[in-house]
Amino acid sequence: MKYAVIAEKLVKTYNGVKALDDVNLMVRSGRVYCLLGPNGAGKSTLINVIVGITKPDKGKIVVLGGSPDTPRIRARIGFQPQEHGLHPNLTGRENLLFYAGIYGVSPRDAKMRIRDLAERLGITDYLGRPVRTYSGGLKQRLSIIAALIHDPELVVLDEPTTGLDPSIRKKVWGLIEDLRRSGKTIVLATHYMEEAEKLGDEVAIMDKGRIVVTGPPEELKKKYGPPAVIEVIMRDADMAKKLETYLVEHAGLDTNRTGQGTLRIYCRDPDQLIPEITSAAYKLGLSISVLRALKPGLEDVFLKLTGRRLGE
Ligand SMILES: Nc1ncnc2c1ncn2[C@@H]1O[C@H](COP(=O)(O)OP(=O)(O)OP(=O)(O)O)[C@@H](O)[C@H]1O
Ligand SMILES: [Mg+2]
Repeated sequence: MKYAVIAEKLVKTYNGVKALDDVNLMVRSGRVYCLLGPNGAGKSTLINVIVGITKPDKGKIVVLGGSPDTPRIRARIGFQPQEHGLHPNLTGRENLLFYAGIYGVSPRDAKMRIRDLAERLGITDYLGRPVRTYSGGLKQRLSIIAALIHDPELVVLDEPTTGLDPSIRKKVWGLIEDLRRSGKTIVLATHYMEEAEKLGDEVAIMDKGRIVVTGPPEELKKKYGPPAVIEVIMRDADMAKKLETYLVEHAGLDTNRTGQGTLRIYCRDPDQLIPEITSAAYKLGLSISVLRALKPGLEDVFLKLTGRRLGE
């Protein structure tokens, strides 16, 4: 099967808000597909349609060659919901055995998988404790393991690393890379652009219920991103705005003001431009806290296409 997921013209409306607004999606088998977008973009709604929890108002969804709301197809999907579905009074191990039971995994296989996955994600020592005593990060990791307990072909993860420490995030990334290597298809939602850049064979940038653009991260950056970015951080938004206005008017620069006092200036050659920026700030009596040249990322692609930052 060439495509693990095919979605056509999906529409889902909640109280007049279009959570999905004519969404088309093709996920190739054996690849990692990242849905990247800010809060409320529609990532979870799309994921819930893919795993068969939410029925779209309109459109078509084919997963692993069939409909995701049939038990036959569901059994081949592993799903980590954004609000994890763990039982607080059961221990971590009991929760995992519960899911193993639902999916008809033999106790022997379940034990082996629990041992291996718990070890990988560093939660072995907590498996005997009730989940209500778990930190958010522990629940998150347990929930990822629950999604993998039946060795599914299609793994769907809704923000698998939100709230995890960087070192644990790396472990989850390593696990996802290994899943891909073993031939699984992974669909994952994230609002971390580094995550989408690192893991995604393909990325769909979502905003306001729409897929704005799709493609491999490098391709998106090449197509929509600037060659280079200079980031200028100033004390407040007002200062950043003054500098921006000046640079746009006097130097015709392409800029984007993001966050409080942060200005991103898109250019070809940062070395040439940096002195110009510092002298402009000097002339205007504005002080710069940080000035640095950065490589453009998916953040800049998102900014370019939507006019907003991912985090806003
Ligand atoms: N069950 C629901 N009832 C009402 N509105 C909903 C429901 N689910 C989603 N929405 C709305 O649909 C829109 C998309 O939400 P969704 O949860 O899919 O976004 P998201 O990209 O997953 O956001 P986040 O990054 O915060 O998880 C939002 O405006 C949200 O409020
Ligand atoms: Mg969500």
